[in-house]
Formats: sequence, C-alpha cells, structure tokens
Amino acid sequence: MTKVEIMKDIYWVGAVDWNARHFHGYTYTTHRGTTYNSYLIMDEKSTLVDTVYAPFAGEMIGRIREVVDPSRIEYIIANHVEPDHSSSIAEILKLAPNAKLYGTARCKQGLQKYYNGNWDFTVVKTGDEISLGRRKLRFIEAPMLHWPDSMFTYSESDELLMPNDAFGQHIASSFRYEDEVNEFELMEEAAKYYANILLPLSGLVTKKIEEIVKMGLKIRMIAPSHGVIWRKDPMKIVNAYMSWAKAESKKKVLIVYDTMWLSTEKMAKAILEGIRGEGVEAKLYRLPDSDESDIFGELLVSKGLLLGSSTINNGVLPTLGAFLVDAKGLKPKGKVAAVFGSYGWAGGATKVLEDTLKEAGMEVVMPPLTINWAPTAEELQKCSEFGRDFARKL
Ligand code: FEO
Repeated sequence: MTKVEIMKDIYWVGAVDWNARHFHGYTYTTHRGTTYNSYLIMDEKSTLVDTVYAPFAGEMIGRIREVVDPSRIEYIIANHVEPDHSSSIAEILKLAPNAKLYGTARCKQGLQKYYNGNWDFTVVKTGDEISLGRRKLRFIEAPMLHWPDSMFTYSESDELLMPNDAFGQHIASSFRYEDEVNEFELMEEAAKYYANILLPLSGLVTKKIEEIVKMGLKIRMIAPSHGVIWRKDPMKIVNAYMSWAKAESKKKVLIVYDTMWLSTEKMAKAILEGIRGEGVEAKLYRLPDSDESDIFGELLVSKGLLLGSSTINNGVLPTLGAFLVDAKGLKPKGKVAAVFGSYGWAGGATKVLEDTLKEAGMEVVMPPLTINWAPTAEELQKCSEFGRDFARKL
C-alpha cells in the first residue's frame, strides 16, 4: 500500500496494523485491526501531523519518502502524546533533526516523560495558528478527549479537521475513506470506539462539538488518527457522536450473565422469552464467552441491561469482574437495569450486581430476582414475568 493524497498536497502516510487484536493493553478488543494515521502536508514548510506506533515507523517513513525526503520535514504537530501516535517522533527527528514540534503544554510534559527528548517544542493553545506558507494550521485544545493533552488541528483553506483520536474507529482496511468500506461494520466499530474510550467523557464531547460549531469552522473532511477518513459525509459521525453523547438509545435489552450449573442461564433464557413476549428485542451474552468491549459497544445504543450471576463465596462469579469494572468506569448514561441470579445455601451475587449498577449510574427499576438451587417450572414462569415487567419499564 502506498501513500494516499487525501487533498491537494496532503497525504496519508500512516500505517495499517492488520493484526492488532487488543488496544489499551488488553482492555479493548480490536477484532478488525486498526490503523495509525499520520498526515504529511506539503507546503513551503513540510509538516507532519502525528506519527504512528513505533513498530510501524518504517512503514510511515517509507510512505513519506514517496512524497519527500524526510529530512525536509520542518514541523511536526503532536496532537496527542499517547504512544500509538507519538512513539515514532524520535525516529522522524533522527531524519529531520531540526524539525520543530507543536502541541499542548500537557503534550510537551508527556513527551518529555515518555521519551526524555530535549526537543524544540512550541506550546500552543486554542486559536493559535502557524503558517506553512500557502495555508495556516489552527489548533483547538480538546482536553480529556480523550487525554488531558489532546488537541485538534484544522486547516481552514482545506476545510480539513484532524482531530486525532476523536471520530476514529479501529478498522484495518486497504481503503482510506468511509464511503469505501462496509457501512454497518464502520458504524459498529465507531460506536464500540466511542463506548469504550469516550463514553464517560460524553459531556465534554457535546461541549467540544458545540464549541466548534460556534467557531463556524467549515468542515469538508475529518481525518482522524485511527481508521477511515470521513470525506463523503463528515457530519454523519459528528451527528452520531451527538446522539451517543446524549445517550439516545432504542428499546433493546442486553442480558449479560454467567452461570455455574446452568440455573442462572435457565433464568436468563426465560427472562429473554418474557421480553420477547412484549415485542422488545433482547440479546443474551454469557461471560466470558462474549467479549465485554463488544457488549459495551452494543449497550451504547440499547436502553436496557439485565445482569445475572450465580452466587459464589457470597458474591458474583469472577468471570463478571472485568464487565463490572468497566461498567463503573464507563458509566453508561440513560440505562435502565435489573439483576437476577441463582444461589445455593446463601445469596449475595445479586446484591453485588445491583450495587455496581447503581454505582455506575444506572436506574435499577426492579428488585432482584433470585432462585434457590434450580428453577422449577413455576419459577421459570416467574422469570418470564420478570422479563415482561422489565420490558414494559423501558
Ligand atoms: Fe489513539 Fe489516545 O491514542
């Protein structure tokens, strides 16, 4: 794959990580791989906007060489300090030792700490501009979208927004634009990305989009740092972000559970039938067979969550652990929830589940449903009624 000219004199020179299956350590699965997008602007001052994850530095440099000798790069814009975008800066600086870096104050601190580099770094803030010759780049700080140092870069003459992580998706593709890839897969990955990275920061997402609208920036293209570039309809992803930030969702229930000797699973299936009886869509996910970061992507646009677990050691099955940690961290807004589970000689799981959901800010709308040992036919009927009642409360 070669460089791609995304606008006149602006090139994608990033890298495709076809085999990435985990991100942020092992917290987020990336079944479809990812890309690290870096953009080379050829002007009187050759400028690189962001770099790539260090193992891919050679790929990026190869693509830069297709356009210009890397030694001619004069400016490097560091929109974000996280290593998937900054860990090739040192490699570029070996080839272009006089290049000047631009980024936020926190980016400067972070780069110094990560790389111990005594680099020529100019701190910029919202509204600051630099001239590349024929065009100017304007900077917009975007703290906590999603790190404190995050920044967007905008070229007014190109009507091009380079917002780094915002509006990204973890998709590896031989295509570079949103209109070239499968739309369902694209929006599924964009939602999963939002749910697992930006969800607890939704208030800031709304404010930042409103701020950009107030600035009156014309946007013809959004070129994020992961996945494909939004060129056909950049507002599609902006509107999706506004909808997700406002917690807009549909009548749909996710039933997430684990089971020891299948009693809790029987309950889950009977609850599902009850929900279906009310004409509401419901899906069943057993942990850890199902992927929790996928589930949070789907929960983003689903109104209801039912959590179930057998009791062990007066608590939940440990297989629910990562899901509960993420629920508390991601704090999905606007969800209604309830819990269920089986127990032997003493309960405890449903209390842990309910307490966690409340801590995560969800509205628990029904008392827990518990069954001793194994459910009888009458108790399964009770589970079905529980599902029906829950569906009516959505
Ligand atoms: Fe893609 Fe926050 O790094």
